[in-house]
Amino acid sequence: MDKETILSWLKEEDPKRLEKLWQEADEVRARCVGDEVHLRGLIEISNYCINRCYYCGINRDIRTLARYRMTEEEIMAVVREIVKRGYGTVVLQSGEDPGIKRTWMSELIRRIKGETPLAVTLSLGERNVGDFAAWRKAGADRYLLKFETSNRYLYRYLHPPRQGEEIDRLILLEELSSLGYEVGSGIMVGLPGQTYEDLYEDLSIFRRLDLDMIGIGPFIPHPKTPLGCHPDWLSRSEVPNTDLMTCKVIALTRLLCPMANIPSTTALATVNPASGRILGLERGANVIMPNFTPIKYRKLYDIYPRPQETAPGGEDPLSIILSLGRRPGKGPGNRRRQIF
Ligand code: 5AD
Repeated sequence: MDKETILSWLKEEDPKRLEKLWQEADEVRARCVGDEVHLRGLIEISNYCINRCYYCGINRDIRTLARYRMTEEEIMAVVREIVKRGYGTVVLQSGEDPGIKRTWMSELIRRIKGETPLAVTLSLGERNVGDFAAWRKAGADRYLLKFETSNRYLYRYLHPPRQGEEIDRLILLEELSSLGYEVGSGIMVGLPGQTYEDLYEDLSIFRRLDLDMIGIGPFIPHPKTPLGCHPDWLSRSEVPNTDLMTCKVIALTRLLCPMANIPSTTALATVNPASGRILGLERGANVIMPNFTPIKYRKLYDIYPRPQETAPGGEDPLSIILSLGRRPGKGPGNRRRQIF
């Protein structure tokens, strides 16, 4: 697909013509990764963060937010619940928390790998290569690190650097890949100031990095953050932060990276609670990541405003999957290398 075609799909508004994009994405999804929808149990293990990302509701400047870090025993209890549900993967996610020590994390990973059949995905932000290597050695299978936007100016604006250091996430992704991790990344859609050209570049990077997992969610303003305080910035944006726009990017990602694991994200389900999750799965996605964070911590992992779920695992993912004529994935759900 050439640049003009991609840009014109990104700008397409006609629902009839878009049907063709949805159909193509769904066909490629079915042919290349099949009808299995992989379930990943998400545990948000700490909301401490040393970063000041202007969009994020757990950034360190939000002093009123109570901070938590789950204990090993608390995490293991949730891990056992995820195993009981028959899931193949646990995702351990946190803010950028230096209180999560290399050895503590290694022990936790060893324990999960020793006591359960789960694949372990880490999503703990920017860490040094020593940490990445130790955790890989301890048995971690995958690492998620979104580059958020390929627009360097926008990225720098949204992520004020700490003490002058600037970390290139694309380099970290290469490092993770050479350590043998399956590597995931992704972006937000509809950031203030983001352009269609930027989204085209994001898609090109997905393809160039040959990513195993690609997470795409709409930007959701959080009232306590610098971006959330200036809603007028959004109305001036070229790219809307809507479910439709997000679905276009998901569908194009499926066409450009046919074998990647692509989640129908919680952020998408947040902007369209009635059918966001389903639309994602119908338009290219093949993964769901139900939230297993204990309720008492969940409201504190306040990256963006989201409805309070009451049950562990939230909305019933199994009934969504079956209603679409698909089936829950068996085993760890690694990225396929070949069309089966
Ligand atoms: N809207 C949408 N996604 C957000 N994230 C953080 N804040 C927001 C927001 N306001 C996503 C980012 C980040 C992850 C922690 O959550 O993509 O990588």
